[in-house]
Amino acid sequence: MKKNIIVSPSVLACDFAHAADEVRRVEEAGAAYLHLDVMDGAFVPNISFGPDFIRALRPCSSAVFDTHLMINEPIRYIDAFASAGSDIITVHIESCADFAAVLSRIRALGRKAGAVIKPATPVSALAEYLPLIDMILIMSVEPGFGGQSFLPASLDKLKEARRMIDRSGLDIDLEVDGGVTAANSAGIIAAGANVLVAGSAIFKAADPAAAVRALMG
Ligand code: DX5
Ligand code: ZN
Repeated sequence: MKKNIIVSPSVLACDFAHAADEVRRVEEAGAAYLHLDVMDGAFVPNISFGPDFIRALRPCSSAVFDTHLMINEPIRYIDAFASAGSDIITVHIESCADFAAVLSRIRALGRKAGAVIKPATPVSALAEYLPLIDMILIMSVEPGFGGQSFLPASLDKLKEARRMIDRSGLDIDLEVDGGVTAANSAGIIAAGANVLVAGSAIFKAADPAAAVRALMG
C-alpha cells in the first residue's frame, strides 16, 4: 500500500526558549507529526527532556506526538509518556529486557507502538515482534545527538524493513531518523520510508516552513 509522506520535525533541534512558537510554525507548514526525543544520559550520552516538557507542548499542537524514547528500561515510563500526550511511543529493542511486554503496554494504553533499532542492530531482530508493532524506526545515525550525517548503509536497512513489512501484510509505518535533508529525502523515500524525522534540516533552516515543504516532496 502506497502511503503519503509524513514529516516529523524533531523538537530537539528547535529553540527550547521558544518551543511553542517553533512547534506551531512547523505544524502550519504541513508537518503532521512532531518528533520528541527523550534521552536519559545512560542509554545515550546526552540528556534532553522528559514527560513534563511534552505535556507542556501538548496544548500548542494538534500534530501526532511521535515520542522516541532513548532510555534504559522504558517500561518504567510508558504510562507517564502516554499520559503526557504521546500518540506514538517508540522504544529501542536494545534498551528492553522484555521488548514484547513494552510494546504490549504501549498498545494497552491506546497508543501506537514504535520499534526502533540502532545502526548496528539488524532489521531481522524485529521480525518476531511485527504483530505488536505499528511503526518501525530505522536510526540512520547513532542516537544521542542531532546534526549528524546520514549513514548511507541505512538505505539498505530501509529496503529490507520495507520488504519485511510488505511481506507481513500488516499496517506498519516505516520511519527514518538522523541526518535527513531535502538533498537525501528522495532516496530515502525510494527505499521505502513513509515517515521522515528531521531536526537540523528544519529548525536550523532560515525558513523552517519551506524546509518542511521541501521534505514532503
Ligand atoms: C538523534 C535523534 C534524532 C535527531 C535528529 O538521537 O533521535 O531525532 O534529533 O536530528 P537531525 O535531523 O539533525 O539528524
Ligand atoms: Zn529521534
